[in-house]
Amino acid sequence: MEPIIAGNWKMNKDPAESRTLVQEVMKSVGDIKDRIVILIPPFTSLASVCELTRNTRFKLGAQNMHWERSGAYTGEISGLFLKSLGCEYVVLGHSERRHVMGESDEMINKKLKVALEIGLIPIFCMGETEKERESGSTEDVIRGQFDGGLKGIENEVHKIIFAYEPVWAIGTGKTATPEQAVEVHKFIRGMLKKPGTILYGGSVKPDNIDTLMREDEIQGVLVGGASLKPESFARVIKFQ
Ligand code: 13P
Repeated sequence: MEPIIAGNWKMNKDPAESRTLVQEVMKSVGDIKDRIVILIPPFTSLASVCELTRNTRFKLGAQNMHWERSGAYTGEISGLFLKSLGCEYVVLGHSERRHVMGESDEMINKKLKVALEIGLIPIFCMGETEKERESGSTEDVIRGQFDGGLKGIENEVHKIIFAYEPVWAIGTGKTATPEQAVEVHKFIRGMLKKPGTILYGGSVKPDNIDTLMREDEIQGVLVGGASLKPESFARVIKFQ
């Protein structure tokens, strides 16, 4: 399986800015052969990014979706709409959705089920807060998010990409050390009981990508801040 570099732009980049970013990154990285790059812009930029990535090795993902296919859910987006815009991936359970928007394991579980049903590949995020890590409950928290998110779809874990994103490392500049990341990745792999893809996310930058990707336990990264600038995103993509 090729390593995955996914850039989550969060609520940044309008359609024109997204187009410029993609064009500059593509120019800088050239032909990418041995890695998968997933661009995850805001909903409103999906169409313009899709146009540029068609027939390239860059893939498209969305940051969220609703658990119903359609209906009276003002302001929500159906996974089917995402598919029609060319998305192959969808991020679910991101810590900003859990902690800022109040998403529960139950909601994430419903979303994961629908994503699998309609053929989107979920990037399912899990991670502990600083307080939870300090109190020694990292594994309990991850186990709770894993069990809660995967209720009823335990046999479909091979269709899901997992992402360990410690909340204390997101947007803080405090990256987990490779040892800390590997420890939790191993724990998640133990629960999977089969081979799987586990990404690390949390302050991934040009100066730590090479060390992180040297670990066999880390199959790729989910990048926030560093994916917003062409130079840093391109350097992360070109990890050695
Ligand atoms: P940062 O890389 O900005 O820490 O964000 C990580 C993240 O949340 C990716 O989904």
